[in-house]
Amino acid sequence: MTTNFLRNALVVVLTAGSLQAIAQFTQAPLPYAPEALEPSIDKTTMEIHYGRHHKAYITNLNTAVVGKPEEKLSIDALVKGITKETAPAIRNNGGGHWNHTFFWNIMAPSKGGMPSGELAAAITKEFGSFDEFKNKFKAAATSRFGSGWAWLIVKDKKLVITSTPNQDNPLMPVADVQGVPILGVDVWEHAYYLKYQNKRPDYLDAFWNVVNWDKVAELYAAASK
Ligand SMILES: [Fe+2]
Repeated sequence: MTTNFLRNALVVVLTAGSLQAIAQFTQAPLPYAPEALEPSIDKTTMEIHYGRHHKAYITNLNTAVVGKPEEKLSIDALVKGITKETAPAIRNNGGGHWNHTFFWNIMAPSKGGMPSGELAAAITKEFGSFDEFKNKFKAAATSRFGSGWAWLIVKDKKLVITSTPNQDNPLMPVADVQGVPILGVDVWEHAYYLKYQNKRPDYLDAFWNVVNWDKVAELYAAASK
């Protein structure tokens, strides 16, 4: 009963003797142990990243949407509806929630390697080779000034590399390049500083060791229909 209630993304709280419905975005469990991506991503970084940063985006989002139309939306619909007029707290924390949930799921222990099948063929077709794709993706992630994300997206059935500032993402109508993300990497310092300090390129090199290409291929197939 309680589980179903939470799954519906709503909780009802008793406030000053009256029932008040409050939108509740919730944090799914991390799909692996925090140490599972060692040594590429260390346990402490994962614990803080998932347990504090991601959690804080959700807490702040839940506060920001109270009484707003966004409180009744799924996180997908919320992100796809963000415009220049959207309150910054909803844009930043909504993006932060979506992006981190996505990020945990395109990584997995004992993964890495190379994509296969149709995804591999599409990468070769668009970028020349897998190595060339990795170079271009790394360049997008390295050159993103300050905090943000680099993405591989499907746009008009083609693969495109792009990046977004802060917690924006390519699903948002405010993004310079819009499309459906199938791979993304967090280049906020909180994602890598404990282990890699200012060496973002080293973190990006290690990221390939934990990419779950099976998941990326699944997302590619869904976005290419
Ligand atoms: Fe992050």
